[in-house]
Amino acid sequence: MPHNKRPQLVVLISGSGSNLQAFIDASKNGSLDADIAAVISNKAGVMGLERADNAGIANEVIDHKQFADRESFDAELADRIESYKPDLVILAGFMRILTPEFVDRFAGRIMNIHPSLLPKYPGLHTHKRAIEAGDTTAGVTVHFVTSELDGGPAIIQAEVPILPGDDEDTLASRVLVQEHQIYPLAAQWFCEGKLSLNDGTPELNGEPLPISGTKFCSEKSYSNK
Ligand code: GRF
Repeated sequence: MPHNKRPQLVVLISGSGSNLQAFIDASKNGSLDADIAAVISNKAGVMGLERADNAGIANEVIDHKQFADRESFDAELADRIESYKPDLVILAGFMRILTPEFVDRFAGRIMNIHPSLLPKYPGLHTHKRAIEAGDTTAGVTVHFVTSELDGGPAIIQAEVPILPGDDEDTLASRVLVQEHQIYPLAAQWFCEGKLSLNDGTPELNGEPLPISGTKFCSEKSYSNK
């Protein structure tokens, strides 16, 4: 059997999986030179699992509610992930806080996407908080995962304007368009060996990245008309 040399990804989800879909599409069209070995969800019946099925990708549910505590869930999750021997683990809307023990097992090869311009607005309801604060821009950050929630070193950020009349939903959909571009791109850099985490500092092409990561320049122009 020919040896499959494409880097292997495991994607963790809890919901809609639109970022997962961006990875599926990028893996198919070649802009991401990697295979999705498996998708794991902590929730049954979510749309992301349907997306995995439609793409013929192995998928499974590990329901956190079936475990006595966070540690035992994380231990099982980590074992299941490792069974697929991934080069990189992708958190894509995975709504569970991970224990330091879990994060340590995948240190330097696990990424998350967070819908804010970190370090602003870690946690939930990022778009609502940005609108309520009167911010004029919002955005999204891809970062390496550390045990600090939404606190790991940033890889890439994309910024979008907050337009008059925006609500959480209109802003979220504007941000998602950017999410779907920058997340597979960050993974591709990692898979190509251009991006790594060295002693807690992300390096792209051998150069340390600025504190908020590299900026993604979208060609899209925005208007609320
Ligand atoms: C995205 O907004 C992502 O930034 C956040 O959770 C959401 C997941 O959306 N971490 P989807 O499931 O990929 O559609």
